[in-house]
Amino acid sequence: MAETFEQQPETGGNYEPLGAAELLDHDARSLRLRAGSTIVEVAALSEDIFRVGAFPDGDTPGYDSEAIAREDWGSVETSMERPDGEITLSTSGATVHVALDPLRISFTDASSRTFAADDELGMGFVRRPGADVFTQPLGSAPRLYKRREEGERYFGCGERTSGLEKTGSYQIFWNVDPPLGHTASFNNLYASIPFTLSLANGRSYGLLFDNPGRVEFDLALEDEGRAYYGAEGGNLVYYVFCGPTPAEVLSGYTELTGRTPMPPLWSLGNQQCRYSYMDEAEVREVARNFREREIPCDVIYLDIHYMDGYRVFTWNDERFPDPEGLISDLGEQGFRVVTIVDPGVKVDENYDVYAEGRERDLFCKKRDGEEYHNAVWPGVCAFPDFTNPETREWWGDNHRALLDRGVAGIWCDMNEPSHFIPRNSTMPGHVVHPGGPGGEPRLHAQVHNAYGSLMARAAREGLLKLRPGERPFVITRAGYAGLQRHALQWTGDNSSWWEHLWMSMPQLQNLGLSGVAWTGVDVGGFWGDSNGELLARWTEFGAFQPFCRNHTAIGTRRQEPWAFGEPYESVCREMLKLRQRLVPYLYTVFEECHRRGSPILRPLLFEYPEDETTYTTDDEFLVGEALLVAPITRPGTEHRHVYLPRGCWFHYWTGERFDGPAHVLVHAPLGEPPLYVRANTAVPMGPEMAHTGEKATNPLTLLLYPTEGADESTLYEDAGDGFGYEEGEYARRAVFCEGSAESVTVRLGEREGTFVPGREELRLELRGFGSAPESVVVNGESARSRYDEESGTMVVSLRETEGALTVEVAR
Ligand code: GLC
Repeated sequence: MAETFEQQPETGGNYEPLGAAELLDHDARSLRLRAGSTIVEVAALSEDIFRVGAFPDGDTPGYDSEAIAREDWGSVETSMERPDGEITLSTSGATVHVALDPLRISFTDASSRTFAADDELGMGFVRRPGADVFTQPLGSAPRLYKRREEGERYFGCGERTSGLEKTGSYQIFWNVDPPLGHTASFNNLYASIPFTLSLANGRSYGLLFDNPGRVEFDLALEDEGRAYYGAEGGNLVYYVFCGPTPAEVLSGYTELTGRTPMPPLWSLGNQQCRYSYMDEAEVREVARNFREREIPCDVIYLDIHYMDGYRVFTWNDERFPDPEGLISDLGEQGFRVVTIVDPGVKVDENYDVYAEGRERDLFCKKRDGEEYHNAVWPGVCAFPDFTNPETREWWGDNHRALLDRGVAGIWCDMNEPSHFIPRNSTMPGHVVHPGGPGGEPRLHAQVHNAYGSLMARAAREGLLKLRPGERPFVITRAGYAGLQRHALQWTGDNSSWWEHLWMSMPQLQNLGLSGVAWTGVDVGGFWGDSNGELLARWTEFGAFQPFCRNHTAIGTRRQEPWAFGEPYESVCREMLKLRQRLVPYLYTVFEECHRRGSPILRPLLFEYPEDETTYTTDDEFLVGEALLVAPITRPGTEHRHVYLPRGCWFHYWTGERFDGPAHVLVHAPLGEPPLYVRANTAVPMGPEMAHTGEKATNPLTLLLYPTEGADESTLYEDAGDGFGYEEGEYARRAVFCEGSAESVTVRLGEREGTFVPGREELRLELRGFGSAPESVVVNGESARSRYDEESGTMVVSLRETEGALTVEVAR
């Protein structure tokens, strides 16, 4: 069973905090100390990222971890000082203080803020005398106790469902496939990201406790003055990201653990799934409906029934006799096909994938050296040892069987890994991964949370090798810190409940605050029957997810956007059309995420950390910085409260203006979810399309609500696939918008980069005018524009050019 119960940390017992320490040596960026038999290293990796490692009993210091993307850090300027009883190591951004007796570590920055300071319990290990491979195979257990500063509040922790704030909570990090119908009281789900982002007085820092085994945090629950971070075994390694803004923390965190890759443009389109579309005819029927009903869609999924007896990397010849033909026909209609792949390999001597894996010794083992087996969809299965680079390469190469038929992307599922005996269990901790890093065997308990990430990594690397010119599209359910560099994460098996629609909001925001920005929940809910209103409201939310996919379980009612008739079908159509129109905006936000690690779907606190009201605002969110979305998540409800942070916001459907900070009551009938646009911030939109590649984005519209004040935003474009953007083949423009009572000026900066968007027209859609403007001048010459009295919207049509454009409107 999933371990979802609450536990209390082991503060007593055999816990031994590290005592007095002495400096052994140091170099330009790091200190090496000894405390008893433990070696402690403290290093400045960059100006604002620090690493602390403690290695007991002569363990050799090492930081190899699936979480870490970057090992090679450039030089960093530091200075070391030795005031009384302490050693300090300073960068231009922060100082780490190492008190020597007893050994205690804390951080300060130029604003004299103290953060991540060891509490009197410090750091150390729970000793387990008599550790034995059967009962206590993990040896000493690391523990870290940090003081909670005045007003400090905790966030992050990955895919948690209950809310944004984690202060006063107990967190378990252990990947499970939870039983059907999880609730907010389930602590750990499919993925584990042992990372907290703390905020105190508007300033933040982050802490990654890097251990892929079972990890637990007590964030000021047992003692409101303390946070505890501990694991079941292994060394003690943690990283501190100094901030002080949440954006800087996330930028540092993703510099260390890896950034979200640029997605293929098509993957921003709407996607449709079911467990399962059972055969070719059903898939064709779904595709036909999307096009006939004019509901945008880019991707259709094949769930487990496309395989032969659920054998991974095979096709079921009866259900799908001609996958190439099907995929190519769908391709002509603008659909791509993504297939599911599970880690369990059916034990069947006549099945080449199993036979080869066994022959090459690539599966997990029992302690007696026999192959380890458990049951999943295909029956009895063996499980690849993804910690072994050779296994990953072999697994990656196996995707050829899918890619050769035209499959566009891979959906990695059940990779906690999930086991059926007993139901909802996972691999026992004593299973052996024979080919761990450096060829050293590891117990599953030591690497459990990394299993899903390693599978996703194998898929991504395989796709890159098989199709080097294309951006891999990989989805994963399970993973560990850093999973964002391999795959997007979808959040597994929710239920068709209003409560699960609500919980999607904090869940995706928590992921975004933990470095996993490319995410989505199953639109409409997976388990159980959805209904028209729920699907429509869920699509109103889903249209704003970084990954927008409708999916449902076997045996449930149909859940395609048209499944419940009118008015729901039209609501879904219009919302998905809006999403399709927003793809240029979303793509711009994805690029920011790729470059800086900023969440795509982000909590208000990310942009407004000085505003404490945002800390608990978990039922609304921002997409990028321009859009604020506040979904309706109750049946029969047309009104809700929305908090608008500082600045000026315009209601998308009515054009009404609000000056934040403000609490407002909004009317949101079906089809008009509360959506606000920040003033003076451009929202790039394309024309309506059936799928992202249907035609050129011509015209590209910049939607703007100019008002007094000024703001700058961006438009980013590139080829939408491939890696040319890394060589400068992209087009970026700054959009500066300034308004006053008399005039509006929009300045489009010169196009940066060598990519030339294939279109003629760039359109400004300026909303919120009370009357027709007096004049419109483009680059000093009077220009044509259209004004719509009823909506107060002015449209200025510009020719696409690489030069700068200044549009001045006299009101
Ligand atoms: C798991 C997945 C679900 C999928 C099903 C069958 O439950 O989470 O999305 O449809 O397996 O493959």
